[in-house]
Amino acid sequence: MNGVNTVVVGAQWGDEGKGKVIDFLTEDANVVVRCQGGDNAGHTVEVDGERFVVHLIPSGILRPEKQCVLGNGMVIDPTSLVREIKGLTARGIAPKGRLFISEAAHLVLPYHRQMDEQLESLRGKGKLGTTGRGVGPAYVDKANRTGLRVHDLLEPKELRHKLEERIEEKNRLLSFLGGKPVDSEEVVRSCCEAAEFLREMIVNTAIWLSEAIREGKDMLFESAQGTFLDIDFGTYPYVTSSNTTAGGAVTGTGVPPHRIDRVIGCLKAYTTRVGAGPMPVESAELSDLLHRNGREFGATTGRARRCGWFDGVMSRYACLINGFDELAITNLDGLDTLATIPVCVAYEWRGRRLSHPPTAAEHWQECVPIYKEYPGWLRPTSGVRRFGDLPDLAKRYLDALSELTGSPVGLISVGAGREQTFLVE
Ligand code: IMP
Repeated sequence: MNGVNTVVVGAQWGDEGKGKVIDFLTEDANVVVRCQGGDNAGHTVEVDGERFVVHLIPSGILRPEKQCVLGNGMVIDPTSLVREIKGLTARGIAPKGRLFISEAAHLVLPYHRQMDEQLESLRGKGKLGTTGRGVGPAYVDKANRTGLRVHDLLEPKELRHKLEERIEEKNRLLSFLGGKPVDSEEVVRSCCEAAEFLREMIVNTAIWLSEAIREGKDMLFESAQGTFLDIDFGTYPYVTSSNTTAGGAVTGTGVPPHRIDRVIGCLKAYTTRVGAGPMPVESAELSDLLHRNGREFGATTGRARRCGWFDGVMSRYACLINGFDELAITNLDGLDTLATIPVCVAYEWRGRRLSHPPTAAEHWQECVPIYKEYPGWLRPTSGVRRFGDLPDLAKRYLDALSELTGSPVGLISVGAGREQTFLVE
């Protein structure tokens, strides 16, 4: 234990392979902490050829001796959480005794999901493409000060009363919007059942974490989604409803800012996005290639992801906001068969050259990427296990990404397996 606290942040639009990077880094950590978001996230990790997808619980849970924390910045569907814990337990991974849930995290309840669905369908052409997990409406209730929190699960009588009150109000709203009302008795029953299952894992995680810091434990803070889905810095309104950037690790856990020692930015060697919103580097050619190879389908919704070339403008801005100490570059093997690889080095917007993205999504939508082409390495890299064994042209490509982002590359990944991740020597 060295008392080193590391934040891992997605530097694009989510799905950068953070789960996998966290899993790799967890080997040297004692505790893994989720800071924000809910089961809109989906982290895929392969261990000994077995595939695990976790949505709420940090992927660190897959290593038996590690402790995991769900921080106060999260929104948690208690029924989904119970399902996830039971699913892992059935596969020989026991979260009980190692998983700690913040009392102050907000609950995602069935009416939030209904509301998510209903509001999306009312948006028509202006759909955000949410994951439909009720995350946005749960954060609305949090900001509106009408949310229920995890600690409410601990008092069944008051919980019933609060739920009935909220459901009556939400059902009126749902009917008004043309949606399906939720069954109050059913919600109360499932919440009480989940509450009993989760009870012993619920604690004040801010106090728990300060104790862990005092003991000198090494901690990993896992930000879900990515920088450009951040509610403040992303392509608003095509964003999620929380702070997915490094600062979210502080507000979402109660750990003081000066206790964060390093920030790692996770990027794909290209760019992907799920859902609507601007994406100047989107490419039909790359989407076709990656989808044909069975890549880039969402872990949570199964939707085909939009794919595009590496965007240096975005990664530069992500570095500016998060202050990356180093980069983890994943999915390098996705580019193995390309003879030339375009990389976006700047945008052209209304006759001007931009090195940072514009704030308004409508302006971002108008940006035209300026590309520089790099020669492809035309060799499979998924079998590579050491940085030194990468083709020279792949190393040159990685140097270009590092230069554009303004941060050194520390970690590479060339496939889904744990053994396909290695450090830059
Ligand atoms: P929400 O978070 O479900 O409200 O969805 C808002 C936007 O964020 C949509 O474009 C989603 O596709 C996107 N999103 C949410 N979570 C993830 C994620 O874990 N990976 C990638 N995109 C996500």
